[in-house]
Amino acid sequence: MASPTNFLLHTFVWLVLATTAFSLSPKFYDQVCPQALPAIKKIVHAAVHRERRMGASLLRLHFHDCFVNGCDGSLLLDSTSTIDSEKNARPNVNSTRGFEVIDQIKAEVDKVCGRPVVSCADILAVAARDSVVALGGPSWKVRLGRRDSTTASKNLANSVLPSPFMDLPALINNFKNQGLNQRDLVALSGGHTIGLAQCFTFRNRTYNATNIDPAFAKERRATCPRDGGNTNLAPLDPTPARFDTSYFKNLVKKRGLLISDQALFNGGSTDDLVKTYSSNPEVFWNDFSKSMIKMGNIKPLTGKQGQIRVNCRKVNW
Ligand code: HEM
Repeated sequence: MASPTNFLLHTFVWLVLATTAFSLSPKFYDQVCPQALPAIKKIVHAAVHRERRMGASLLRLHFHDCFVNGCDGSLLLDSTSTIDSEKNARPNVNSTRGFEVIDQIKAEVDKVCGRPVVSCADILAVAARDSVVALGGPSWKVRLGRRDSTTASKNLANSVLPSPFMDLPALINNFKNQGLNQRDLVALSGGHTIGLAQCFTFRNRTYNATNIDPAFAKERRATCPRDGGNTNLAPLDPTPARFDTSYFKNLVKKRGLLISDQALFNGGSTDDLVKTYSSNPEVFWNDFSKSMIKMGNIKPLTGKQGQIRVNCRKVNW
């Protein structure tokens, strides 16, 4: 019969093996291709230098990848007879951008590594971190070792990605379904400290909401007419090319752009945290980094699951 010490030892060894085999690690490419991460950083910085908004667009790609069946690069697959591309889902079509930068990174990384060893899912995770850094935000150690999916789901993307018209309970529930709590929701929504949104996503709020600063609503209505102008852009916060706390400062002033932004500061359970972030950049930075790591851990494919795609847009033969 196994002694209690034996049992504990077995459990311990099993746990160590299980965690090394199935979990992600910041050192994953250290031996196999130490040039990979510097190569990604270089291309992201160049892309953000060319166009500041690209940093925002790349951050969003990682989020939209992770929420749909885990961080598995599924978002990057183009449509074929067997792939119903997530790019055509409502939250993504004519909206997500930066795919050419991901292609460029993939080509360069495969070149410097000498073979395709870095997954497209990992490229998205690293590019998101490097984008935040390029726009003046915090850095964190990205856990790596994700593998790429061989499938995508437009229908799932349509049903699980949060809508800009959601109220607080719906947002909390949406994040909870991904294993993320209210603190993650508020911290990650801070991603809206960078980037832009199209008129159709905020029109309703600027014409009909009561929890909005009237001067701000007027300003936004000037470039977002009641009819037409659907794709006209507005910044998600007053400094859309800088990763700072003005997104939260704005929410406190009822100047959130999307209904889902202002929902975080509207007399509910997340008000206090919004206030904290608005005046404590280090707390926001720390929480944002932690929540990004948590989001990056959503259902990764590891070990022998999935594949390392040669072209991020296509499944390997
Ligand atoms: C909480 C629920 C969220 C909702 C409802 C939401 C919704 C939206 C919408 C509607 C846009 C504008 C898209 C367009 O007009 O084309 C947008 C942009 C953006 N979102 Fe979110 N988002 C959410 C959470 C997040 C998270 C968690 C992140 C990242 C951590 C993020 C990062 C961004 C960025 C960076 C942009 C600007 C992209 C660009 O300029 O290309 N969002 N989001």
